[in-house]
Amino acid sequence: MEGQGYAGLTEPLLKSLGLTRKAQRLLHPELRPCNIARSMTAENNHYGSRLLHLRLPRVCVAIAGSDANEMLEKAEALARDNPFIELRLDYLPKPGLAPEKIREFTESHPHVAVIGTCRRLASGGKFRGPISSQLDLLGKVADAGCQLVDVEIQTAARMRSAQLDKLRGKAAVVLSFHDFRGTQKLDETLNKMTAFPADFYKIVSTATSLFDNVSMMKFLERHQDAHSLVGLCMGEQGIISRVLAARAGSAFTFGALSADEKTAPGQVTARELRSIYRIDQVDAATKVYGVAGDPIEHSLSPAIMNAALRRENVNGVFLALHAKSLKDLLACVKEIPIHGLAITMPHKQAILPHLDNTDPFTTKIGACNTIVRSADGKLYGFNTDTSGVVRPLEQRIGLQNAKILVLGAGGAARAAVFGLKDRGAQVFILNRHTEKGKKLARQAKARTMKRLDLKKLDFDVIINATSVGMGNTRESPLSADEIKAKYVFDMVYDPAETLLLKLAKERGCEVIAGSEMFVHQAARQFEIWTGKPAPREDMLKIVTQALAERAAARNGTKLISKAS
Ligand code: ATR
Repeated sequence: MEGQGYAGLTEPLLKSLGLTRKAQRLLHPELRPCNIARSMTAENNHYGSRLLHLRLPRVCVAIAGSDANEMLEKAEALARDNPFIELRLDYLPKPGLAPEKIREFTESHPHVAVIGTCRRLASGGKFRGPISSQLDLLGKVADAGCQLVDVEIQTAARMRSAQLDKLRGKAAVVLSFHDFRGTQKLDETLNKMTAFPADFYKIVSTATSLFDNVSMMKFLERHQDAHSLVGLCMGEQGIISRVLAARAGSAFTFGALSADEKTAPGQVTARELRSIYRIDQVDAATKVYGVAGDPIEHSLSPAIMNAALRRENVNGVFLALHAKSLKDLLACVKEIPIHGLAITMPHKQAILPHLDNTDPFTTKIGACNTIVRSADGKLYGFNTDTSGVVRPLEQRIGLQNAKILVLGAGGAARAAVFGLKDRGAQVFILNRHTEKGKKLARQAKARTMKRLDLKKLDFDVIINATSVGMGNTRESPLSADEIKAKYVFDMVYDPAETLLLKLAKERGCEVIAGSEMFVHQAARQFEIWTGKPAPREDMLKIVTQALAERAAARNGTKLISKAS
């Protein structure tokens, strides 16, 4: 029966089957087929088993509120686009007032699947009452139309089996366990949980490393055939588990209503899960790509890469991996079937010795920003920062003999210097620490220059490859009278107009924003990974819009982003 749909079942037909109103609601065409009752085939009198093989939507939106009215107003506003919600009764000051309101909601929204949750304080929720009150409330919300109720294992352990049975006669039970400290003993925990009959077993742990996501993913893969499981890792490091778990067979996952209404740490908004990560389409065949760095929170790569994957019809998903250490990242990459990985600060140079091979140009630059994993698991390194610098310039000027000043001598500067020398440009390097600049100049057969001489010289292009100006409009690597060039190109992409670019415009120079480099290097990565042409125009539009939104929302928080 798995995979069979119910889209042909009309309401009168459902009525004629003699099912309760609640069961009819669950069989409504908008709910997709699934294995809700797989774990309880022997218990045909239970509510869940009567629902046969229904599939719930992939993303459940957790909703809290300052009172029942507010919670259900939010549910009301969401209902159209989100046919699966969790009502957090434990967040309400008077949860006893909720069932009546919930009844009104479920009756007017038969297509919405609702989980009623009243998590006790001892299990990480906010409900302070005794277990008897918790069960009473769960029974009432089930009567009021919640098709599923969440019961923590701590509560189940103290219930009589007849009580659990009775509850399951009214609603499908999601038996849950939360670990707020780490991700450990997942198999052992499931073993303990399956001592209690339930319709779903939900295990939520906390990721303290990237590898914890791998443990969760493998756990789900091991047990998904035997039980209906829901698994994910909380915490900022666990964000990727929400997508990887869906790929590994988790029946559904949770998303926040909005960025400031998260009911669990590391929750991603439901909208992001659906529109950026396309979680509804993620399956075992979905290819995984990602960007790894520290910090990574502000990276725009997931937004543009996921859009490009969608545009080019690639069954793939692009994730942001918060790699606090290279060791954790490498362990994770080994286990996640990752096809392509973008590497950003601070791992671009340190990752090189861990790769199986790099192209000669990347070896010369000494920094890698793109990894491809071959079918046999080997990791190959490339550097697309070079094309990110060269392409926007080549679209404007001939590089042969062009006189170009590169500010900086770090990873991004190295990619620029080697790439420009390769195109025949005359390259001058100016770096804060002069020795480092001289070393790069020797390696790349470029020249260094003194800051004092700047005012005397004219350039075709000045490129800022330092991090000065990142996240603010106060700092510039050069003063106005030091800017003498036809073009000024800033690798810093946030803010969209850095102080350097503003000064350059005032001096009459043409400017090239960091977003161009960002998009070009990302486009090249996309082409290396997928073999398809990258939708550059779309990618640039997304970056430009995201930067404008950030600029509008900026409230003094320092954003960290450089076009590499
Ligand atoms: P990336 O890989 O993004 O290039 P990086 O390798 O850390 O990052 O390089 C940062 C560059 O910005 C370096 O050239 C650094 O100069 P030093 O080599 O002298 O450290 C430059 N940089 C950072 N902060 C700077 C500042 N306040 N003034 C001038 N240059 C700065």
